[in-house]
Parts: sequence; structure tokens; C-alpha cells
Amino acid sequence: MSNVNNDRIPNNVSLSDDKRLQRALEAWQPSFLSWWNDMGPFGFQKDDVFLRTATSVTSEGWANFDYVKMPEYRWGIFLADPTKDRKIGFGDNMGQPVWQQIPGEHRNALRRLIVTQGDTEPASVEQQRLLGHTCPSVYDLRNLFQVNVEEGRHLWAMVYLLHSYFGRDGREEAEALLERRSGDPDKPRILGAFNEPCTEWLSFFMFTFFTDRDGKYQLLALSESSFDPLSRTTRFMLTEEAHHMFVGETGVLRMVERTASQMKELGLEHPDDVRKAGLLDLPLIQRYLNLWYALSLDLFGGEISSNAANFFAAGLKGRAKEERYEDHVALDSFYDMEVVRDGKLGREQVPLRNAMNEVLRDEYVEDCQRGVDKWNRTIAAHGIPFELKLPHRRFYRQVGISANVPFDPSGKMISKDQFEAQKGEWLPTEADKAYVQSIMQKPVFDPKQMANWIAPPKQGIKGRAVDFEYVRHT
Ligand SMILES: [Fe+2]
Ligand SMILES: [Fe+2]
Repeated sequence: MSNVNNDRIPNNVSLSDDKRLQRALEAWQPSFLSWWNDMGPFGFQKDDVFLRTATSVTSEGWANFDYVKMPEYRWGIFLADPTKDRKIGFGDNMGQPVWQQIPGEHRNALRRLIVTQGDTEPASVEQQRLLGHTCPSVYDLRNLFQVNVEEGRHLWAMVYLLHSYFGRDGREEAEALLERRSGDPDKPRILGAFNEPCTEWLSFFMFTFFTDRDGKYQLLALSESSFDPLSRTTRFMLTEEAHHMFVGETGVLRMVERTASQMKELGLEHPDDVRKAGLLDLPLIQRYLNLWYALSLDLFGGEISSNAANFFAAGLKGRAKEERYEDHVALDSFYDMEVVRDGKLGREQVPLRNAMNEVLRDEYVEDCQRGVDKWNRTIAAHGIPFELKLPHRRFYRQVGISANVPFDPSGKMISKDQFEAQKGEWLPTEADKAYVQSIMQKPVFDPKQMANWIAPPKQGIKGRAVDFEYVRHT
């Protein structure tokens, strides 16, 4: 199954055995490339970039490193190897064989799940399109491009499913995935966070930590799917996703490390003094954290959701690592949930299937906390009395039961006036944004240099030195 091949579209799905599908995907390929050239990293398409390319799903094959010009990247279709006799692991059809074709009654729901996932992939490339021009180092520039080309491959993964299993509708959806644009008022991307501007590296690192991590949990839930090709596709995508979150986690860690170490060394206390030294003060980092965390929490959808219940019942989308749960049918249990009703906080017993978005969000919150703890250990190691905190999950939400209800970061309900009065302490202000842009204006293209506001990474990529020429920028 995991053979390397020389097709125009690298794949491990025996594409050449299905001429119709092969032709359809080869017809989509030029549209993809023209999208990439228009909307991919601007100004770096001719550069040689030290990139990882997947050529198969085996442990040796999936990570080949070499210099590649991005438009020549070999975007391929790779599914994790099938699990023999795999059975449906949850929901109403638990225990039956998984599906190799889509049952007619689930066609629309599955298409919607695949399109929603697929839409996020090109969206993030669009959001990050100009970041190369302000890179803090060549090492970071390379990581940005690695994330970008892999999001491109994730789009291929979803388009493969659309073309293979959804006929004409699928082909139309595949076209539409290249037509929507992040942040475009007329044809926006489907989900909110993927229309937010991500114009500087502080946001990029927050995005890859928080928003790509939503991606991880969506992929984990989809990898449980009864529709086996979706399960296998998403399982392989998760291996790539891990790198994106590494970029985010270590990126924030390095910013925090730089600020804390300089505060210690130069005896800086007040944020104004930290800014005079050209650094990102910790309260500012906290405000960006608050924003990207809230935006990313929204991506999980409403807390109480009949869609989520239907997806679970039908076996389309499970919980992350479903096998760790005891009850896979989830028909007689309830989720004890804090809810907002008529402007008041209360508790409700929500049928578990309807609470599946919240169950997935719980896992996500815990995972985010692990990263925040690491960042805090770094701050503490420099003796700086400051702790980063995840705000309460009700804070600044735009989706779900807390949507547009004013809460402070501790989760306390407050008045709209109070929220407006204190917003500047909790979310990036115009002054913050201007400051961040001002210190991140100049790109660093010399491999030996690192921007002032971030510490160097502990190590380079694939055994190379940190100051290796990861991008040959011409
Ligand atoms: Fe992705
Ligand atoms: Fe990603």
C-alpha cells in the first residue's frame, strides 16, 4: 500500500487504476497551483526551501527533507494503511464493519464535515501569506513554509475524498474550496477564526498553537469515523499537524523566554520598560493568548448541538481517542453543563450525545493547559512573577451559549459597559497591534541572526544547525 510512485500526483491509493478519478484530480491540479501562486506565500515562490515532503506513510517514507521551490512541492494523497477488519467504534451502528462507500443517508452530513475541514486548510495559507516578509529568522521562515505546504496537502486530502466519493457535488465543492477567500466579505471561509487577520508573528504563533490544535482535535474525532477512507486520511494528517503545533508551542515559548530573560538581565519591570527594550511584554502576550484561545474555542461549535448528536449517532464523527471511553453508545448519560439561559448562569443536564462538541472541547482545553504550564515554567525559571492563564471558556465567545454575553476572563458575568471599559486589559488594543507591527517590521534573512523579540530555538531542523540556510532567499 505504501509504495512511492512517480505519478503526476504522488499517492498511495493506486490512483492510476482509476482513470476517471485520476483525470478529475489532474484537472483540479492546475486550479490548485494557480490558487497557490495567487494566495500562497507571497514573494518566496522562487526560493529554495528546506522542506519535508511525504512520499509514503511508512516511518522512513513520510518525512523526506530537501530543498524545494514551493510551487514544485509534491503535494500527494496519502492515507494511513487500513486496519484489518476495522469495526465501527461508537454510535448506533457500533460493532458493524466500517464503510468503504458512503451510505446514501449520510452523504450530505459527511460532505459537510469534509468541506468544513477542507476549507480551513487553504484558509490558513491565505491568512499567513504575507508573514514571510517579517520573519524573525530564516529558521522560522522555513517553518512557516512547511506549515503552508502541508496545509496545501491537507486540502488535497479532503479534495481526494470529495472527488472519489461525492461525484459531481464533490467536484463542485472542490472548486469552491479554491474560490472562497479568508476574510473576504463576499466569499469568506466557512469558520470564524479562519477569517481573522494573522498579520504578524505573535498571532502566527498563537494561531499555530491554538487554532492548529483545534485542527488536531477535529482530525482525532474524524479519524474515528465509520467512513474508513476519512478515518485513514485524517490519521495521516495528524502526523503533519503535530509539527504545526510544535511551531506554535515553541514559538510562544521562545517569545516568553526572550522577554523573561531580558527582564531579569536588564532589571525591567513595567511593561513600558519592556517595550522600550523592543520586547513583547507579558501582559501583551496574555491579551493575544486570550483572543486566539477564544476564537479557537468557537471552532468546536455550540455546547449543545443536535448536529453533534446526529454525527455521533450515525458514526460519522466520534470523540478524540474514542477507545478510552467506556460507553461508546452514549445514549443514557448526561453531561452536567454550566449554561447561560435568559442572561443567567445555571446548570443543565445535557444528553451526552448533544454535548459531544463540549466533550471534545474539554480535551482541547486540557491540552492547551499543558502548553501554558510549560511557558509558565520558563517565566518562573527567570524569577519573573507573572503567570499566563487560559481565560475561562465563556470569555469573548462568538459561538454557542455564551456568544456575545459579556464575561470577564475568570468567567464572571459582567455588564456590557464593564466589558467595554475593561476590554483593553483583556484583548489586544489598537496600541498593542501598532506596537507589535512596529517591532516586527524588518525581516531577518541572515541565517546567523534572530529578531530581538524572540529567543533562538534549542535546535535546528533534521539535525541541521539553528543557523543553517533553511531558505535560500533571492
Ligand atoms: Fe491542516
Ligand atoms: Fe495545521
